[in-house]
Amino acid sequence: MTYLKLPIFSQTGYVVLDSYDQSQDVREWENLVFVDWKSSGETRFAPLASAYGEMECDGFWNHTPAKTDKDGVWVPENVALAPRLTERVQEPGANIGRCRVIELQPNTYADAIYNLHRDDNNRLNPEGTGWIVRAFCNLTDNRDSVMILREDKDDPATETRIALPAGAQVVIDTQRLYHAVWHAGNEPRYCLITSYESGPELDAWLTGLHPVALVPSVPVDPDFAQEAYAGAEARRAARAAAIAAKGADPTFGNGTLSAGMEVLSEA
Ligand SMILES: [Fe+2]
Repeated sequence: MTYLKLPIFSQTGYVVLDSYDQSQDVREWENLVFVDWKSSGETRFAPLASAYGEMECDGFWNHTPAKTDKDGVWVPENVALAPRLTERVQEPGANIGRCRVIELQPNTYADAIYNLHRDDNNRLNPEGTGWIVRAFCNLTDNRDSVMILREDKDDPATETRIALPAGAQVVIDTQRLYHAVWHAGNEPRYCLITSYESGPELDAWLTGLHPVALVPSVPVDPDFAQEAYAGAEARRAARAAAIAAKGADPTFGNGTLSAGMEVLSEA
């Protein structure tokens, strides 16, 4: 399949942009309407744009009629509560798909490694059109938290950890890179996440914000990291065993999840 992709993503799959001056904004996310939507951790989401303007966060392909992750429809209630956030996401001028504020509860490095996933951003995307990438604009000041990116889910050597102070802006090809956030705070983290179509508008916006395609990783203690990898691996093994048990025993799966069995959905 051939899509229009921006060359700036070819090297690493992400770009870090100039920080946004978050201190100038009112904390609009505190008033938004959030819906329960589990994705890679203990999360809720406040949709600003959804498939058809409803207060929900499902993938655009999971609606009737199904659509690709473009032409998001503004959710009137949340747009009215967050005019500045709505204005911000339109600044690139690129086509917008899903757009929402995520609320993530604190977790551990092991949790984040376990939660690593890729997004399904380009399902139903017509060939020859722009590839969907996602912008992450950190709203709260989470300078001890990091966005974890891996080219290979099982290879720590491919990992990049990007710090998330207030105003941090990262655009990621999340269908290429495995990703999850290690949020080390005591309070929830809020981040504005928007699907954008690759094209000249997005390219111009990125260029104006001095994109850096390779940044040094936030350091992590090697012994601590090894422990986290082992913890994540143990959880994966438990999950695989639970799924195998469900397959062997048809009475096991009745719509509820047992301990050790978790669903990783993409956000
Ligand atoms: Fe994701």
